[in-house]
Amino acid sequence: MCGIIGYVGHHDPKGILLDGLKRLEYRGYDSAGIAVLEENKVEVFRSEGRLHRLEEKLGNRRFQGHVGVGHTRWATHGAPTEVNAHPHRVGSITLVHNGIIENYLEHKETLLKLGRKIASDTDTEIVAHLFDIEVSKGQTLHQAVLNVLPKLKGSYAFVILNDKEPNLLIGVRNGAPLLAGIGKDESFVASDVQAILSRTNQIIYLNENQFAVCRREGVEVFEANGKKLSPEVKTIHWTPEQMEKAGYRHYMLKEIHEQSRALTNTIESHIDQAQGKICLAGIDSAKSKLKNIGRVSIVACGTARHAGLVGKDYIERFAHIPVDVDYGSEFRYRDPILAPGTLLLVISQSGETADTLAALREGKNRGVLTLAICNVRDSTIAREADHVLYTNAGPEIGVASTKAFTTQLAMVFMFAVEFGLINKTLSEDAAKSLTSDLLKLPTLVDKALTLESAIETIAQELQHHTFFFYMGRGIHFPISLEGALKLKEISYLHAEGYAAGELKHGPIALIDRNTVIIVLAPKDRETKFDAGGHLASLSQTLHEKTMSNLQEVKSRGGKIWTVGGESEAGTAFDTESDYFTAIPNSTWSLNPILLSIPMQLFAYHVALQRGTDVDKPRNLAKSVTVE
Ligand code: M6R
Repeated sequence: MCGIIGYVGHHDPKGILLDGLKRLEYRGYDSAGIAVLEENKVEVFRSEGRLHRLEEKLGNRRFQGHVGVGHTRWATHGAPTEVNAHPHRVGSITLVHNGIIENYLEHKETLLKLGRKIASDTDTEIVAHLFDIEVSKGQTLHQAVLNVLPKLKGSYAFVILNDKEPNLLIGVRNGAPLLAGIGKDESFVASDVQAILSRTNQIIYLNENQFAVCRREGVEVFEANGKKLSPEVKTIHWTPEQMEKAGYRHYMLKEIHEQSRALTNTIESHIDQAQGKICLAGIDSAKSKLKNIGRVSIVACGTARHAGLVGKDYIERFAHIPVDVDYGSEFRYRDPILAPGTLLLVISQSGETADTLAALREGKNRGVLTLAICNVRDSTIAREADHVLYTNAGPEIGVASTKAFTTQLAMVFMFAVEFGLINKTLSEDAAKSLTSDLLKLPTLVDKALTLESAIETIAQELQHHTFFFYMGRGIHFPISLEGALKLKEISYLHAEGYAAGELKHGPIALIDRNTVIIVLAPKDRETKFDAGGHLASLSQTLHEKTMSNLQEVKSRGGKIWTVGGESEAGTAFDTESDYFTAIPNSTWSLNPILLSIPMQLFAYHVALQRGTDVDKPRNLAKSVTVE
């Protein structure tokens, strides 16, 4: 999941490549490099560590050439050292690569027998040799691509430059994202549109087994078998400004604070406000098929999977359809049962996560109906799913997902309501009431965000503890998982999320005076609908049980921070806890979204206190495009 970029045009490529790499750094950041073709000779600059180290190395250097490639790395094969950093240069070939070449050892052996010297531990350099062999025989780069691709196994994207063919870059896609951008007398290739959006919004998304031949004059796209294509050029509507920090110290903080806007955009674009009805254009043509759905299988990774766990509750409750939720990385390897009548729902912010994409393809191969909830338009998952519902969260840059998560929750909520109407398990009245609750959500989120300074104080006081235990019941349980994930990934503290009732079955043994227990306890009225889809009963059983679980941990010495609703202020949830935070009172179904806000703010402020790199936590990458 490295970031790659290429430029061919009429400017010095240095600034364009570095700016693009800055915007791609979320994909990997353990080393970086650029190469520029100067008077038929390529100059390569590489550096271990973050991009600023490469910038320091380049200093004020200016280039006369107008062609170049750049790379920011998340190491797979070979340690994150300078020698393993990209671009890799062999003979007249310069190559940057994202992905994995599974059969590189086989090729390496052959290359060594041919007497070729291999300088790095990477799979990438091996591919550069294969291209060099071809061009040394007099093949054009275009022909070399056609000859080399059949020899490679794995999933990858490359950008290749040949000294002998200036004014030409070739970008190849096979399993890892790649797109081409068309500018005025200039062309680009990149892993992600963010890298080039400040230069052009005219984009060609490559499909698998396609390659783009980019020249100053334009871009041509071919299939791996050589067939020329007429690709669609899309206009991207995200603006470069949306990708700036807008005065916030970190993207994560900006994105936390953008949530009420992101939710408004997501909700209002899917609701006909005059009628108070949810309108999901993305599934309009699927409605008759949804009537025959008897099971939903949700597949996602990380935070998106947590959204799926909340989605299970919504769908089962509103649409009365059984739902299971799987990890993208597990799903396809256990020969899942995907009987006719199954809906495969994949959830992904980026739309490029390799495991989620593979699950989607598995579902498509097995012939079941597929639906994606995605944030990035025209991403691979969005393009390949039968139907897509877009969260309109805008670009999410911080590695820790925040606004993407809460908008995924809103989207899956709207889908469940619509599905309930289709199945007639939800009455029009109940759907209207749920929709009107949802429309109030952005205001409540804004109110929850005012808790920041109180949460910052709690974070300051608790940051030295070494173990954080999040617990919640029912629909709050996935938020305990999400809260723990947020803290782990950006503060590097050990955190676990648990269903509160499971505590006594083992994990309670971990609790001592050094443990912080975060109790999620807004009133969780259990809503039931009768056979006609009308609201039937409200009870509060889980809430009381969570109180018992709080007492169990309190008596074992843990420090307790309870996050409840305003109506819990002053009750035992407040008085029995060391710290208490009240989110605005809302309906049970929207509490998971409101609870997410203090979880995000807490993780952010703990990480800030501990001095970690909030937006680019160690070992992680935003978009995980390798298995
Ligand atoms: O782009 P996706 O939603 O498919 O990404 C899935 C996960 O990699 C992602 O949610 C990850 O867990 C986040 N870093 C969590 O904050």
